Amino acid sequence: DYYAILMAGGVGSRFWPISTQNFPKQFHDMLGTGETLIQKTFNRLSKLIPEENIFILTNERYNDLVHEQLPTVTKRQVVLEPAMRNTAPCILYAALKIHKENENALMIVAPSDHWIEDEQAFSNNIQTAFDYCSANDALVTLGIVPSFPNTGYGYIEYDKSSTSQIKTVEQFREKPDYETAKTFLDQGNFLWNAGIFMWSVKSVLKAFKTNQPGLYQLFKSGYDSYNSDSEDKFIQENYPKAENISVDYAIMEKSSNVYVIPADFDWNDLGTWGSLYDKLDKDNNANAIVNSKVLLEDASGNMIRSNKDKIVVIDGIKDYIVVDKEEVLLIFPKAKEQDIKNVLQNVKAKF
Ligand code: GDD
Ligand code: MG
Repeated sequence: DYYAILMAGGVGSRFWPISTQNFPKQFHDMLGTGETLIQKTFNRLSKLIPEENIFILTNERYNDLVHEQLPTVTKRQVVLEPAMRNTAPCILYAALKIHKENENALMIVAPSDHWIEDEQAFSNNIQTAFDYCSANDALVTLGIVPSFPNTGYGYIEYDKSSTSQIKTVEQFREKPDYETAKTFLDQGNFLWNAGIFMWSVKSVLKAFKTNQPGLYQLFKSGYDSYNSDSEDKFIQENYPKAENISVDYAIMEKSSNVYVIPADFDWNDLGTWGSLYDKLDKDNNANAIVNSKVLLEDASGNMIRSNKDKIVVIDGIKDYIVVDKEEVLLIFPKAKEQDIKNVLQNVKAKF
């Protein structure tokens, strides 16, 4: 009884100007492969999960985009949020809906916008987690060996002495500050949280009930309406009342039955232009080029993207992000990629 929920409600603001509030990155072909990130994620999951049990969770404004890009998905599979409240509320809501449909469901929660190439290794890790969750009251996550003290991730301290593939988690720490992250790396038994979770619906509902009783009560009070005609009315009225909190803070940091499987695949959360650059093929001068006809002189280390028909000529530019869209042209140092979020604010304020 495998189910999946695909988280597709984020905005991807550091991928501006390609990713925008009305058309976020998960609905773009960021890698230039002909498939959007959500299509890739859906296909990856459908190797393991029956297609009709894959649910897409997203803001109601992206409903049309989801149906356009995933034409086989039915209305039942698209869970719409009338307000943005981060990941805890929508995961709880979806878990209750799935529980009502199938009390014995095992579910995976996956972001819709990550890069994972080795599908076989991914499926094997998920299968291991599902086997464990079907026999134990467990919240299982996938961990990535950290390469630097990134403060944008959650960290997982696991039991060093464990020799099994599934390791007991000592502590889960969402987004530590830089100094703390550095001590985590020094200790050697910390992994990055990949943001991919596996559990039985029973276990995740128990975790919400224990650690977030208010949120749990709010969504539980609509249980009778779920998967029926009165659901929409309940959600429109009550969803906006939910606290804005991520699943990491809401339950992962607080629970004592958390386990981690070190991932056997390469992973990248495609959070910035630089992380996308890392995953793309490069030309001889280390330029990554998506959807562009280019003429380059003395250009190296650049991340270049335009649309297929536009010719891009670059001379004398090194380590830049060059992104062209009809109404915006961005030329920005790769080293300052985190600031793109703020640029967007400034642009909005001025134009
Ligand atoms: N449906 C829905 N609704 N999806 C959402 C919402 C929402 O309100 N907010 C975010 N998402 C989706 C995003 O699109 C993304 O796919 C996923 O949920 C995670 O949200 P992010 O906003 O990208 O989280 P994060 O990057 O700050 O942190 C999480 O991911 C890291 C790894 O990428 C945490 O789980 C960290 O612990 C983890 O290391
Ligand atoms: Mg993210």
